[in-house]
Amino acid sequence: MQIQQPDISRSVILSEQDIIAQTEQYVQKVLMGEGTGHDWWHIHRVRTLARTIAKNERANLFVVELAALLHDIADWKFHNGNQEIGPQTARAWLSSLHVDLADINHVCTIIKDISYKGAHVATPMKSLEGEIVQDADRLDALGAIGIARCFAFGGSRHQVIYDPSQKPIMHASFEEYQAKSNITINHFYEKLLLLKDRMNTVTGKKIAQERHTFMELFLNQFYTEWNGEFHQLD
Ligand code: ADP
Ligand code: NI
Repeated sequence: MQIQQPDISRSVILSEQDIIAQTEQYVQKVLMGEGTGHDWWHIHRVRTLARTIAKNERANLFVVELAALLHDIADWKFHNGNQEIGPQTARAWLSSLHVDLADINHVCTIIKDISYKGAHVATPMKSLEGEIVQDADRLDALGAIGIARCFAFGGSRHQVIYDPSQKPIMHASFEEYQAKSNITINHFYEKLLLLKDRMNTVTGKKIAQERHTFMELFLNQFYTEWNGEFHQLD
């Protein structure tokens, strides 16, 4: 009679530290070299920002780190608008590491809710951990890095940089937001300049204000140059 071997891999319980380290390696492998601003370094910055924000909050850091690491693992924008694929991919990964089901559910809810969906579409988060990761993700869309990412994304979609005849659209639904937007400068008005007033945490608001001011400066200079004008410096 054949003796059934215990499935050792199933009985190994990884520490939270190991789960985070393995998740980091996994995400790095999937997103390294991605060319639209949703690459590994975006994840790295979001994780760092999330930690900075979490220092001032009584949050579950394990969930914050996992959600920050996995939030763009399979973004709907790159999967035909499929909003389920992100949470599903994260769930499959975390299940393979035997993470506690409550934590998996929490992380997947954050990933499902985190995205911006248009100027007039509310995107409330269901937990403090979600609010922290959403703030961190949105902060990386602002400031100098936000500007760089915006043009990287626009280029990847063959968007026009600017067309003064095309006015920004304040999208009323997620469907509209998904369908329209093909002028990169308009994305500042349709999203980036609106984010400072949609921050959840006190720390997020402070960081957003600084980055917002920098984007306004950039846009002023952009229009100055567009109009063939210049600032007299002497
Ligand atoms: P979220 O994390 O809220 O889903 P996105 O992944 O849509 O945010 O956006 C991340 C960044 O990608 C944006 O902040 C922006 O820089 C860029 N981006 C997204 N859509 C556009 C667009 N239509 N034009 C230019 N940049 C865009
Ligand atoms: Ni992101």
